[in-house]
Amino acid sequence: MVQPKVYVTRQLFDEAIDILKEHAEVEVFEGVDDAIPRELLLSKVRDVDGLLCLLTERIDAEVMGAGKNLKVISNYAVGFNNIDVDAATERGLYVTNTPGILTDTTADCAFALLMTVARRISEADRHVRAGKWVHAWGPRMFVGSDVHGKILGIVGLGRIGSTIAKRAKGFDMKILYFDPRRRPELEEELGAEYASIDELLSRSDFVSLHVPLTEETRGFIGDRELDIMKEGAFLINTSRGPVIDQDALYWGLKEGKIAGAALDVFEEEPLPSGSPLKELDNIVMTPHIASASVETRTKMAVTAARNLVAVLEGMEPSNLVNPDVKKVRPL
Ligand code: DGY
Repeated sequence: MVQPKVYVTRQLFDEAIDILKEHAEVEVFEGVDDAIPRELLLSKVRDVDGLLCLLTERIDAEVMGAGKNLKVISNYAVGFNNIDVDAATERGLYVTNTPGILTDTTADCAFALLMTVARRISEADRHVRAGKWVHAWGPRMFVGSDVHGKILGIVGLGRIGSTIAKRAKGFDMKILYFDPRRRPELEEELGAEYASIDELLSRSDFVSLHVPLTEETRGFIGDRELDIMKEGAFLINTSRGPVIDQDALYWGLKEGKIAGAALDVFEEEPLPSGSPLKELDNIVMTPHIASASVETRTKMAVTAARNLVAVLEGMEPSNLVNPDVKKVRPL
């Protein structure tokens, strides 16, 4: 029997590759740190049945058109803004992602960023390393903001948003949330209060973003929103970079509209070396690592592999992004 072919766009954990190899002929891009060049991706996708890709690859109509035998695109991420899902559905291509698995790990990181920027941890660390800790202990040295007892505004009370709320409860924080869909069951469970976006921005000491990147959320936090935010507030983003207008944020931080920001995601990744954000002390920046624990990244790989294999075997994958595809190409 002819085995299906699968292409994987980055070196992944062996557990996942082993699963794929039980069902398909597998080729893996040799890159560990760098994304596959676009031309190579277009040529590799040509005769494969399944593609396991990362958020660094733009999977658009051109890639799908090149993949004449393609049946499934398995994204190694919960976010799938890198994939043109409508184009995939039209072509009968199954798109899968990895939700659920990275919820706790990402919420942990979002809370760690919140603490780091509030208590000026990375700024103080840079100070010590640079040999600048030459004065005696002093009452004003690196004074930051308390976290406990403050108001956390969560934009998007989905899986990750509600999990950071649980972390916040341990710090006696009051929780406000904005979500297009009101969540009465979570309001009760988490003690969260629903607010309009403007009310949330004006009342919160910390605003944490947990929305997918869509046309509606692109540039969601811009000049107007930064103006509304409380003086001395902090903005945390572990969702997708373009949800914040980065230029507006730069000026907002420089002019002290808000006290600080902690970003794991950026409009352009990697962050360009000349980014003005690097000049600022009141920002903490990490390179899109919110889900980066060994446990979680391994589980994501295994899930992505299983989703892909399920489609190739004619079974419903656990995490189907585009259920309408079943009408176009039933399994
Ligand atoms: C995702 O899964 O969407 C994250 O950004 C990477 O884990």
